[in-house]
Amino acid sequence: MSKPRIGIVISTTREGRFGDKAAAWIAGLAAARGDMEVEIVDLREYPMPFFDEPGSPFYVPPRNEAARRWGRKVDELDGFIFVTAEYNHGPPAVLKNALDYAYKEFNRKPAAFVGYGGVGGARAVEQLRLVAVELQMAPTKAAVHIGGADFIGMFIQGKTFADMPHLDPTAAALLDELAWWTHALKAARETTTAKAA
Ligand SMILES: Cc1cc2nc3c(=O)[nH]c(=O)nc-3n(C[C@H](O)[C@H](O)[C@H](O)COP(=O)(O)O)c2cc1C
Repeated sequence: MSKPRIGIVISTTREGRFGDKAAAWIAGLAAARGDMEVEIVDLREYPMPFFDEPGSPFYVPPRNEAARRWGRKVDELDGFIFVTAEYNHGPPAVLKNALDYAYKEFNRKPAAFVGYGGVGGARAVEQLRLVAVELQMAPTKAAVHIGGADFIGMFIQGKTFADMPHLDPTAAALLDELAWWTHALKAARETTTAKAA
Protein backbone atom coordinates (compact mmCIF):
# COMPACT_ATOMS: atom_id res chain seq x y z
CA MET A 1 0.00 0.00 0.00
CA SER A 2 1.32 3.46 -0.85
CA LYS A 3 1.97 5.89 1.97
CA PRO A 4 -1.22 7.64 3.07
CA ARG A 5 -1.57 11.30 2.20
CA ILE A 6 -2.39 13.60 5.10
CA GLY A 7 -3.78 17.07 4.52
CA ILE A 8 -2.98 19.64 7.17
CA VAL A 9 -5.72 22.22 6.76
CA ILE A 10 -5.08 25.82 7.78
CA SER A 11 -8.60 26.78 8.80
CA THR A 12 -8.41 30.56 9.14
CA THR A 13 -7.69 33.02 6.35
CA ARG A 14 -7.30 36.45 7.95
CA GLU A 15 -4.12 38.49 7.59
CA GLY A 16 -1.75 37.93 10.51
CA ARG A 17 -3.27 34.59 11.46
CA PHE A 18 -1.54 32.22 13.86
CA GLY A 19 -2.63 29.15 11.92
CA ASP A 20 0.44 29.12 9.65
CA LYS A 21 2.79 28.59 12.58
CA ALA A 22 0.81 25.73 14.09
CA ALA A 23 0.37 24.08 10.69
CA ALA A 24 4.09 24.26 9.90
CA TRP A 25 4.91 22.79 13.32
CA ILE A 26 2.60 19.78 13.09
CA ALA A 27 3.53 19.26 9.42
CA GLY A 28 7.22 19.04 10.36
CA LEU A 29 6.54 16.47 13.06
CA ALA A 30 4.27 14.44 10.77
CA ALA A 31 6.76 14.43 7.89
CA ALA A 32 9.63 13.40 10.20
CA ARG A 33 7.84 10.10 10.96
CA GLY A 34 8.31 8.86 7.39
CA ASP A 35 5.07 6.89 7.34
CA MET A 36 2.84 9.52 5.74
CA GLU A 37 2.93 12.02 2.89
CA VAL A 38 2.14 15.44 4.30
CA GLU A 39 0.62 18.38 2.50
CA ILE A 40 -0.43 21.75 3.89
CA VAL A 41 -3.81 22.73 2.50
CA ASP A 42 -4.50 26.43 2.94
CA LEU A 43 -8.13 27.55 2.77
CA ARG A 44 -6.89 30.88 1.38
CA GLU A 45 -6.27 28.97 -1.84
CA TYR A 46 -9.92 27.89 -1.97
CA PRO A 47 -11.85 31.16 -1.73
CA MET A 48 -15.35 29.69 -1.66
CA PRO A 49 -18.32 32.02 -1.19
CA PHE A 50 -20.73 31.37 1.67
CA PHE A 51 -22.46 28.19 0.61
CA ASP A 52 -24.58 29.01 -2.44
CA GLU A 53 -25.40 25.84 -4.33
CA PRO A 54 -28.63 24.12 -5.42
CA GLY A 55 -28.20 21.47 -2.72
CA SER A 56 -25.85 19.63 -0.43
CA PRO A 57 -22.82 18.10 -2.15
CA PHE A 58 -24.20 14.86 -0.74
CA TYR A 59 -26.62 15.05 -3.71
CA VAL A 60 -25.28 17.65 -6.14
CA PRO A 61 -21.66 18.45 -7.06
CA PRO A 62 -20.86 22.14 -6.42
CA ARG A 63 -20.85 24.51 -9.40
CA ASN A 64 -18.39 26.94 -7.84
CA GLU A 65 -14.93 26.47 -9.35
CA ALA A 66 -12.98 26.86 -6.07
CA ALA A 67 -15.34 24.41 -4.41
CA ARG A 68 -14.77 21.88 -7.16
CA ARG A 69 -11.00 22.21 -6.71
CA TRP A 70 -11.47 21.83 -2.95
CA GLY A 71 -13.52 18.68 -3.46
CA ARG A 72 -10.82 17.22 -5.71
CA LYS A 73 -8.15 18.03 -3.13
CA VAL A 74 -10.16 16.44 -0.31
CA ASP A 75 -10.71 13.39 -2.51
CA GLU A 76 -6.93 12.98 -3.03
CA LEU A 77 -6.24 12.90 0.71
CA ASP A 78 -6.51 9.93 3.06
CA GLY A 79 -6.66 11.78 6.37
CA PHE A 80 -6.81 15.26 7.80
CA ILE A 81 -5.39 17.40 10.55
CA PHE A 82 -7.53 20.48 10.93
CA VAL A 83 -5.46 23.24 12.50
CA THR A 84 -8.11 25.48 13.98
CA ALA A 85 -8.71 28.61 15.96
CA GLU A 86 -11.77 29.14 18.09
CA TYR A 87 -13.99 32.06 17.06
CA ASN A 88 -16.67 32.87 19.66
CA HIS A 89 -16.45 29.37 21.13
CA GLY A 90 -17.01 27.68 17.78
CA PRO A 91 -15.06 26.77 14.64
CA PRO A 92 -14.09 29.58 12.25
CA ALA A 93 -16.89 30.09 9.72
CA VAL A 94 -14.43 29.70 6.84
CA LEU A 95 -13.69 26.15 7.99
CA LYS A 96 -17.34 25.19 8.52
CA ASN A 97 -18.15 26.58 5.09
CA ALA A 98 -15.37 24.50 3.54
CA LEU A 99 -16.63 21.38 5.31
CA ASP A 100 -20.13 22.05 3.93
CA TYR A 101 -18.77 22.24 0.37
CA ALA A 102 -17.74 18.57 0.15
CA TYR A 103 -19.26 15.36 1.41
CA LYS A 104 -18.40 12.02 -0.14
CA GLU A 105 -14.79 13.12 -0.49
CA PHE A 106 -14.55 13.18 3.33
CA ASN A 107 -16.32 9.86 3.95
CA ARG A 108 -14.49 7.09 5.80
CA LYS A 109 -11.37 9.13 6.47
CA PRO A 110 -9.94 10.18 9.84
CA ALA A 111 -9.98 13.73 11.19
CA ALA A 112 -7.58 14.99 13.85
CA PHE A 113 -7.38 18.47 15.32
CA VAL A 114 -4.77 20.96 16.46
CA GLY A 115 -6.61 23.75 18.27
CA TYR A 116 -5.31 27.02 19.62
CA GLY A 117 -6.68 29.87 21.69
CA GLY A 118 -7.43 30.67 25.33
CA VAL A 119 -8.43 27.07 26.07
CA GLY A 120 -6.54 25.54 23.18
CA GLY A 121 -9.48 25.74 20.81
CA ALA A 122 -11.15 22.95 22.80
CA ARG A 123 -14.70 24.20 22.30
CA ALA A 124 -14.24 24.54 18.54
CA VAL A 125 -12.63 21.09 18.34
CA GLU A 126 -15.52 19.46 20.21
CA GLN A 127 -18.00 20.97 17.76
CA LEU A 128 -15.86 19.92 14.82
CA ARG A 129 -15.84 16.32 16.03
CA LEU A 130 -19.65 16.30 15.74
CA VAL A 131 -19.49 17.75 12.24
CA ALA A 132 -16.90 15.14 11.29
CA VAL A 133 -19.23 12.33 12.31
CA GLU A 134 -21.95 13.70 10.02
CA LEU A 135 -19.37 13.74 7.22
CA GLN A 136 -18.84 10.04 7.99
CA MET A 137 -15.32 10.67 9.19
CA ALA A 138 -13.52 9.09 12.14
CA PRO A 139 -12.52 11.88 14.55
CA THR A 140 -9.55 10.95 16.73
CA LYS A 141 -9.57 11.14 20.51
CA ALA A 142 -6.07 12.55 20.66
CA ALA A 143 -5.80 16.24 19.85
CA VAL A 144 -3.32 19.03 20.41
CA HIS A 145 -4.55 22.04 22.36
CA ILE A 146 -2.27 25.06 22.31
CA GLY A 147 -3.75 27.21 25.04
CA GLY A 148 -3.14 29.66 27.85
CA ALA A 149 0.41 30.89 28.31
CA ASP A 150 1.67 28.73 25.42
CA PHE A 151 -0.66 30.39 22.94
CA ILE A 152 -0.14 33.91 24.29
CA GLY A 153 3.61 33.30 24.41
CA MET A 154 3.75 32.41 20.72
CA PHE A 155 1.02 34.75 19.49
CA ILE A 156 2.10 37.91 21.32
CA GLN A 157 5.40 37.42 23.15
CA GLY A 158 7.61 36.14 20.34
CA LYS A 159 8.07 32.61 21.62
CA THR A 160 8.13 29.70 19.18
CA PHE A 161 7.33 25.99 19.19
CA ALA A 162 10.97 25.37 20.06
CA ASP A 163 10.12 26.91 23.46
CA MET A 164 7.22 24.48 23.90
CA PRO A 165 8.71 20.94 23.95
CA HIS A 166 5.93 19.82 26.31
CA LEU A 167 3.56 20.00 23.32
CA ASP A 168 5.53 17.37 21.38
CA PRO A 169 4.12 14.32 23.23
CA THR A 170 0.57 15.49 22.54
CA ALA A 171 1.47 15.81 18.85
CA ALA A 172 3.03 12.34 18.89
CA ALA A 173 -0.13 10.84 20.37
CA LEU A 174 -2.27 12.57 17.73
CA LEU A 175 -0.02 11.39 14.91
CA ASP A 176 0.11 7.80 16.22
CA GLU A 177 -3.66 7.60 16.37
CA LEU A 178 -4.12 9.33 13.04
CA ALA A 179 -1.62 6.97 11.38
CA TRP A 180 -3.50 3.93 12.70
CA TRP A 181 -6.89 5.12 11.52
CA THR A 182 -5.57 6.35 8.20
CA HIS A 183 -3.96 3.01 7.47
CA ALA A 184 -7.00 1.01 8.58
CA LEU A 185 -9.52 3.12 6.69
CA LYS A 186 -7.40 3.38 3.54
CA ALA A 187 -7.13 -0.42 3.44
CA ALA A 188 -10.85 -0.76 4.04
CA ARG A 189 -11.73 1.77 1.33
CA GLU A 190 -9.49 -0.06 -1.12
CA THR A 191 -10.96 -3.48 -0.41
CA THR A 192 -14.66 -2.79 -0.11
CA THR A 193 -17.10 -1.84 -2.79
CA ALA A 194 -19.88 -0.93 -0.35
CA LYS A 195 -20.70 2.74 -0.74
CA ALA A 196 -21.06 5.05 2.23
CA ALA A 197 -24.71 5.81 2.98
C1 LIG B 1 -13.91 36.75 15.68
C2 LIG B 1 -12.98 36.22 16.73
C3 LIG B 1 -13.51 35.51 17.78
C4 LIG B 1 -12.65 34.97 18.75
N1 LIG B 1 -13.19 34.19 19.75
C5 LIG B 1 -12.34 33.48 20.52
C6 LIG B 1 -12.85 32.48 21.40
O1 LIG B 1 -14.03 32.23 21.49
N2 LIG B 1 -11.97 31.77 22.14
C7 LIG B 1 -10.62 31.98 22.06
O2 LIG B 1 -9.87 31.29 22.71
N3 LIG B 1 -10.11 32.94 21.24
C8 LIG B 1 -10.94 33.68 20.48
N4 LIG B 1 -10.44 34.62 19.62
C9 LIG B 1 -9.00 34.93 19.66
C10 LIG B 1 -8.25 33.94 18.79
O3 LIG B 1 -7.88 32.81 19.57
C11 LIG B 1 -6.99 34.57 18.21
O4 LIG B 1 -7.31 35.78 17.57
C12 LIG B 1 -6.37 33.63 17.20
O5 LIG B 1 -5.15 34.17 16.78
C13 LIG B 1 -7.29 33.41 16.00
O6 LIG B 1 -6.74 32.49 15.09
P1 LIG B 1 -6.08 33.01 13.71
O7 LIG B 1 -4.93 33.91 14.14
O8 LIG B 1 -5.59 31.78 13.01
O9 LIG B 1 -7.13 33.76 12.97
C14 LIG B 1 -11.26 35.19 18.66
C15 LIG B 1 -10.76 35.92 17.59
C16 LIG B 1 -11.59 36.42 16.63
C17 LIG B 1 -10.99 37.15 15.45
